[in-house]
Amino acid sequence: MPVTVVVGAQWGDEGKAKIIDLLSKEHTYVVRYQGGHNAGHTVVVDGERYALQLIPSGVLYDHVIPVIGNGVVVDMPTLFNEIDTLESRGIACSGLAVSSRAHLIFPWHQAHDAIAEAVRGDDKIGTTLKGIGPAYADKARRVGVRVGEVADLEHFATTVRARAIAENIVIEQAGGEPLDVDDIVERFTALGARLQPYVADTVTMLHDAVAQGQHVLLEGAQATFLDLDHGTYPYVTSSNPTAGGACAGSGLGPRDIDRIVGITKAYTTRVGAGPFPTELLDADGDSLIDIGREYGTVTGRRRRAGWLDCVMLRHAVRLNSLTEIALTKLDVLDGFESVKVCTGYLLDGAPVQHYPDRSDVLARVEPVYETLPGWGTDLSEARERGALPDAAQAFLALVEREVGVPVKVVGVGAERDDYLVWSA
Ligand code: GDP
Ligand code: IMO
Ligand code: MG
Repeated sequence: MPVTVVVGAQWGDEGKAKIIDLLSKEHTYVVRYQGGHNAGHTVVVDGERYALQLIPSGVLYDHVIPVIGNGVVVDMPTLFNEIDTLESRGIACSGLAVSSRAHLIFPWHQAHDAIAEAVRGDDKIGTTLKGIGPAYADKARRVGVRVGEVADLEHFATTVRARAIAENIVIEQAGGEPLDVDDIVERFTALGARLQPYVADTVTMLHDAVAQGQHVLLEGAQATFLDLDHGTYPYVTSSNPTAGGACAGSGLGPRDIDRIVGITKAYTTRVGAGPFPTELLDADGDSLIDIGREYGTVTGRRRRAGWLDCVMLRHAVRLNSLTEIALTKLDVLDGFESVKVCTGYLLDGAPVQHYPDRSDVLARVEPVYETLPGWGTDLSEARERGALPDAAQAFLALVEREVGVPVKVVGVGAERDDYLVWSA
């Protein structure tokens, strides 16, 4: 299994980092392929919580070479803050490789993100305000600044100055506060100097690794339904977290990949605006949020919560060619008397055959639920599927039947070792 992709199958925060941490044991390279510091990936080791935004979650293992791939947008202040924090906690980051083709985020991207959200008013997307959308927009309109440009700092400083001056005009026209150009040039040139030793041609590096039979793990951030093309547009992020994006964002080819793991919680959450068919605005929803501690890692926002949606998961299986599912946070359902799973949608009273291609349609569907008895037992000590109570096994069997691929890993707690795993 040389190349594995891990992709969120819902709207993010599925517990990808914990599963990546688990899979990192058998991989040498762990590669972020899209997104930026809008991601918040949590791994808990012996009670210590590591919250990663840009650095791949595999960094916690000494044998792992963490790679920031070409598809990522890199915020240098966050990157170095993260490196400093990890190193102060004894985690070495010197082996980190950052793709020369990745694009950089600058303060004007954050300014544009804030202006765009303000202009949308009540229709705002609820972005993380990290400048992700504007940075990808600059990449698409071919005015972005790439990581590789820090090789020539004089030229880099000139480019940053020109971009800052140009962007200030747009910011002022939109009624925003102009940025301090000199300060940006000085700070980002210094950061660029610090970035130099990490810069690499990661595409060649990864192809060489695959050719040598090394195991590579491609770590998705965000998730399938936040995908720019396949998510609930416009309530999406500006990259392609789906497995297809793993190729574009790492430079590996589709035929290099042989395992694609979709991560889902045992229920559903979403942070930010957008349609959410199984959302619960009642006491059950509050319980999911409280028990599951559903507050954003990056922005601290209260997440929205609802029952598991197998219509979404079925679509995620197709979009990503998922070979298996890892289902996290089963323990959060422990105290529920009964548990619901959405197995279909109705639109104007008629069954929906395909996942709706429009957000306004998705906002109107009604979920069809199958209700299962709860298990009323603490699952946190379970380590094999056979050790689960019958009701929890029935829940997993229902998911597998509805979704069509096996559930191979189940999370039963936040700690690194709180999971059940099997190969059948
Ligand atoms: P990611 O963005 O997909 O990596 O997920 P986040 O880290 O944003 O959010 C997942 C949260 O759930 C984190 O706080 C994890 O520590 C926690 N978590 C992951 N797996 C489990 C699990 O199986 N059970 C419980 N109770 N918590 C989990
Ligand atoms: P991880 O990797 C959950 C959401 C934002 C917003 C939308 C667009 O931790 O799963 P953006 O700042 O990307 O332009 O915001 O996407 N969003 C996430 N939601 N988990 C994430 O990452 C997210 N990254 C972005 O809340 O709705
Ligand atoms: Mg997260």
